[in-house]
Amino acid sequence: MKLRSKEWFARKGKDGFIYRAWMKNQGIPADMFEGKPVIGICNTWSELTPCNAHLRDLAEAVKKGVLEAGGFPLEFPVMSLGETLMKPTAMLFRNLASMDVEESIRANPIDGVILLCGCDKTTPSLVMGACSVDLPTIVVSGGAMLTGKYKGKDIGTSDLWRFADESKKGLLSEEEMNMAEAGMCRSIGHCAVMGTASTMAGMVESLGLTLPGNAAIPAADSNRKVLARMSGRRIVQLIKDDVKMSDILKREAFENAIKVNAAIGGSTNFAIHLMAIAGRIGVELNLEDFDHFSKDIPLVANLQPSGKYFMEDLYYAGGIPAVMNSIQAALNRDVLTVNGRTIAENIADQVSLNDEVISSTDQPFNPRSGIVVLKGNLCENGAVIKPSAATPALMKHRGKAVVFENIEDYKAKIDSPDLDVDANSVLVLKNVGPKGYPGMPEVGNMGIPKKLLEKGVNDMVRISDGRMSGTGFGTVVLHVSPESAIGGTLALVQDGDEIELDVEARKLNLLVDAKELNLRKQNLKLDLNVYSRGYCKLYVDHVEQAHLGADLDFLKGGSGSEVLRDSH
Ligand code: FES
Repeated sequence: MKLRSKEWFARKGKDGFIYRAWMKNQGIPADMFEGKPVIGICNTWSELTPCNAHLRDLAEAVKKGVLEAGGFPLEFPVMSLGETLMKPTAMLFRNLASMDVEESIRANPIDGVILLCGCDKTTPSLVMGACSVDLPTIVVSGGAMLTGKYKGKDIGTSDLWRFADESKKGLLSEEEMNMAEAGMCRSIGHCAVMGTASTMAGMVESLGLTLPGNAAIPAADSNRKVLARMSGRRIVQLIKDDVKMSDILKREAFENAIKVNAAIGGSTNFAIHLMAIAGRIGVELNLEDFDHFSKDIPLVANLQPSGKYFMEDLYYAGGIPAVMNSIQAALNRDVLTVNGRTIAENIADQVSLNDEVISSTDQPFNPRSGIVVLKGNLCENGAVIKPSAATPALMKHRGKAVVFENIEDYKAKIDSPDLDVDANSVLVLKNVGPKGYPGMPEVGNMGIPKKLLEKGVNDMVRISDGRMSGTGFGTVVLHVSPESAIGGTLALVQDGDEIELDVEARKLNLLVDAKELNLRKQNLKLDLNVYSRGYCKLYVDHVEQAHLGADLDFLKGGSGSEVLRDSH
């Protein structure tokens, strides 16, 4: 077993003295430095990331497992990205956090890694960074919260949008809003619906980067600690067997992840994060693959926002292994996972324990699922829509654009009684793309104008270069590329222009003739944010467009795990 950590701890003389002596101030016995594999426990614990606030506790379970298997666990913090508090949007910092992860792993005496994550961006940022080093690695997700309760009903994050609309319509008092607020997040863990955090937990499980069952065990269930402990034991063996991330993350594993994401009705954010991960590990993946591999996969998990139930229910029904069992005919079943077994071995006999929550493919909850990739003059490099969260009647639609130049313009105008809008209109929001905002915030499922809500309109076609929360729903076209801030056609849309959406035909077009569009392009003044310093400058100068995964261009690929030269 070749260990990187020996380059530090097995050294003789002054260097070895320095490497070991300072570590011993933590009460570590001398034999821990004598050839045991060092497991870095990469922790996104933070009280500013409430979804991950229990991860210090989970790290202790991982440590027990590592010690039981003869390893040497060392926990370290990395930048944590809390979805609810960070401004302007946690997505702005995904790539920054991934750099922290990558360099923290490579710079230290680490032989293998456990990634502890939960809230939306914490999972992709950790996986991206770890891929660029490519050591043996296992992901342990924090798990979802227990199902929320309000007036005896089950609630989750997706209800937030409904509560907001009801409150706007005057149907929910402040006192009732307070009750809902108190009942929504009643345990440790991340959002309890199939939002982006659960999508990411499902993604890492279907990629083979976790022990089976990782995604659905609730954060508060003692089995979550068992999984963490077993992962701690397993990573030691993974190092002995020299199974690196690149041995797990083959193209076939990515195809499986796309199919599972369709089966569970996962978030549209999945496309952006999976492409960024593929870019780091060197697997060819493009936006069209998401449509191609998901188009024949029906929705077999009945989870909000596409369905009815919550992550806790998914766990009781058999979790991701049961979902994968349900769609097994479509999967690449001989791909390896971190427990040393293939997908086929992991999902054998893992049948659904509740057909109301996980169905067979013969009786799906929705025959349409996955991510549809649209093309047309409004999105030359693509845009995405999630059919399972959309209104079927709006999937083929032609309407007049009501344009908002940016999010401030939207906020100022959306509830104005003078807004020239009807139920057939298409709401268009510009300048919320990767460079434009910057950071591509989750504002794509912009709220319906108050005057239409009052008339009972609950969904409209909405188009933007931004993203949508995985907990959101509606007929929402997202990730329009190229984005408006760099002069994409989206920037040229004007109030009253006709837009045609045809999801079945994969088309999104602005029905304005080319001559007129050329004229508008010549007069276009770009509204790009200019930063003179700091991370925002680096980000805006280097972020790629959404259809490529919105990673920084110079972070593609990896620099490997070679031990860096030392300075002593
Ligand atoms: Fe953290 Fe939803 S806010 S997972």
